[in-house]
Amino acid sequence: MRTDPLFRAIKTAHGETVTITFDDKPLSVPAGISVAAALLLAGVDHTRRNPVSSEPRAPYCMMGVCFECLMEINGQPSTQACLVSVHEGMEVRRQNGAALFQAAGEVLSA
Ligand code: FES
Repeated sequence: MRTDPLFRAIKTAHGETVTITFDDKPLSVPAGISVAAALLLAGVDHTRRNPVSSEPRAPYCMMGVCFECLMEINGQPSTQACLVSVHEGMEVRRQNGAALFQAAGEVLSA
């Protein structure tokens, strides 16, 4: 299985980075890019598991259409990682299975 990243960073004007937490591990990523792009750039091979088959899934369209990038971001499950920019201290987790919500968005289980 290929393990090296399929993506390369485009040189940014300032080269600034932020540190996020991905599955409880610190990860330094370029500032100003999406969570999905940051994780792909870091070589992360999947960001969630299919709730039925448990197959690993990864961001695909990078524009909010396919929903393959659903992750838990800052405690909020089922967040489209391609539509959220990285910020210092952000906590990101893979989403394994379906997340259930109460009416006001409160999580019952994930
Ligand atoms: S990668 Fe397709 S919706 Fe996020």
